[in-house]
Amino acid sequence: MIAPIVRDKAALRAMVTPWKRAGEVVGVVPTMGALHDGHLSLVAAAKAACDRVIVTIFVNPKQFNNPEDLANYPRTEEDDARKLERFGVDAIWVPDGDQMYPEGFSTNVSVSGLTDCLCGATRPGHFDGVATVVSKLFLQTSADQAFFGEKDYQQLQVVTRLAADLDIPVTVVGCPTIREEDGLAMSSRNLLLSDRARVYAPVLNEVMEEMAEALRGGAEIAALMPKALKRLEVAGFTSVDYLELRRADDLQLLDRADVPGRLFAAAWLAGVRLIDNIAV
Ligand code: PAJ
Repeated sequence: MIAPIVRDKAALRAMVTPWKRAGEVVGVVPTMGALHDGHLSLVAAAKAACDRVIVTIFVNPKQFNNPEDLANYPRTEEDDARKLERFGVDAIWVPDGDQMYPEGFSTNVSVSGLTDCLCGATRPGHFDGVATVVSKLFLQTSADQAFFGEKDYQQLQVVTRLAADLDIPVTVVGCPTIREEDGLAMSSRNLLLSDRARVYAPVLNEVMEEMAEALRGGAEIAALMPKALKRLEVAGFTSVDYLELRRADDLQLLDRADVPGRLFAAAWLAGVRLIDNIAV
């Protein structure tokens, strides 16, 4: 089934209102497009849990702190619509920049605390952009449930927090990270890797899995860092934004995994920033 592509806020509202009136459960899967199996796993989870599913595709300029990154971000709308066909989603919401941020737009949603570290520290303004657009997507779609990937674990925590803090009546559902066979976490940015860089990209996950194993055995992260950084360097990673163990709930730093933790990494390979995280 080809889902209608909706580009206008009033048309989206006209579509959703009767669903809500009929008491149907509406699910939303926010994305920036260039859909891969990671995104599609969220769509499948939404389909299984909801009567109606809206997939959103919007490359949100407010969450890019680097203009080049925004310009290079892959845009593949026709392919995306085709990939969604087999799921029978009810609408694809593809607002343009004016629909999302009309002239005079001046509101910023900012979640404090959770956003001080990790991608919040290395990408200034990123999470304000995410929180602002996700708040808008929740309200535009009137979704009862919203599906996000653990691939972006900090983002999952941030959107859960903002929905609770702003009394937006949506349940945020976290879904596991989908990986390529060699362990590389699926990401739209993987399309930007050269053939050569693609060969070395899985080293990030390999290094993290080894560290996680040692951490589960009681090791201190500081003792594991030199070898891990060396292996990344040898594989061609030019810089590491962070490689840290943090509490799974409030993202506070940990030295060792004595409470449920998560190992987080962001590193640059051939001009592409890759992120990953795993439970410890
Ligand atoms: P995007 O990077 O397109 O990701 C959309 C959703 O897909 C996010 O919830 C992300 O965590 C999830 N996802 C990406 N790769 C995944 C994988 N390998 N396995 C499982 N889920 C995965 O995240 C964004 O867009 C934006 O910040 C957005 C929330 C849409 C706001 O603009």
